[in-house]
Amino acid sequence: MPSKGKAIIMNVAIIGAGAVGTTLGKAWVNKGHLVVFGVRDTQSAKARALAESIKAPLRSIRDACTDAEVVVLAVPWAAAFDALKEAGGLDGKIVVDPINSFTPDMALSVGFTTSVAEQIAKFVPGARVVKAFNTLGMGNFDNLVFGGQTASGFMCGDDAAAKAKVGQLAAEIGFEVVDCGVLRNARALEPLALLWGQLAFVQGLGPNIAFKLLHR
Ligand SMILES: NC(=O)c1ccc[n+]([C@@H]2O[C@H](COP(=O)([O-])OP(=O)(O)OC[C@H]3O[C@@H](n4cnc5c(N)ncnc54)[C@H](OP(=O)(O)O)[C@@H]3O)[C@@H](O)[C@H]2O)c1
Repeated sequence: MPSKGKAIIMNVAIIGAGAVGTTLGKAWVNKGHLVVFGVRDTQSAKARALAESIKAPLRSIRDACTDAEVVVLAVPWAAAFDALKEAGGLDGKIVVDPINSFTPDMALSVGFTTSVAEQIAKFVPGARVVKAFNTLGMGNFDNLVFGGQTASGFMCGDDAAAKAKVGQLAAEIGFEVVDCGVLRNARALEPLALLWGQLAFVQGLGPNIAFKLLHR
């Protein structure tokens, strides 16, 4: 993981043109993927300017998802179910969940005995949910090498084929991909993001940090 074969071009819909959506979208457009943004307000000047600069079309959430094989849910946790409702039929599609349920005092509002990812999978049972891209700040995505070491891109999900595709997308950004097993293991990946936030913002290490799985 990811497959060493030829890179596959994917139709990717990104719901939400915020920090995560635009960072991932830009990287994947540069890799030749067919990226479309799904937003609440297609007339918003900010969203239009961003989409223009990234060279990816802006659509309603439903239209963006219609032809997508991969749908990235790049919205706050509080907006996740509304956005999924807007998206319409997601059966068979890969839904990438980068969401952290951070509270203002840097804790998790969901976690430990369930996870955001499992809640999403329950809400869209026909979709193939993959937890990914949640364990470090987006500001690092332009350069995932830290003192010669490449950051791990942790992901989990119940569908191996879906994880292989998301693994390709993560590797193309520059992650060293780590398959963390079943979706239930998002119960570990979401608190890992909490640890990242605590280290970055409470312990004062700042946001230019990342986790790496070491091998011997
Ligand atoms: N930022 C990071 O470094 C980072 C890293 C890892 C994971 N994450 C996670 O990734 C997710 C997105 O974070 P972000 O930093 O990109 O947030 P953000 O910059 O605030 O962007 C959020 C986007 O969600 C859209 N949105 C809000 N409510 C919506 C709704 N009901 N339906 C559809 N779209 C809606 C917003 O659109 P409008 O413009 O219409 O408001 C905005 O484009 C969060 O769950 C966060 O926990 C963030």
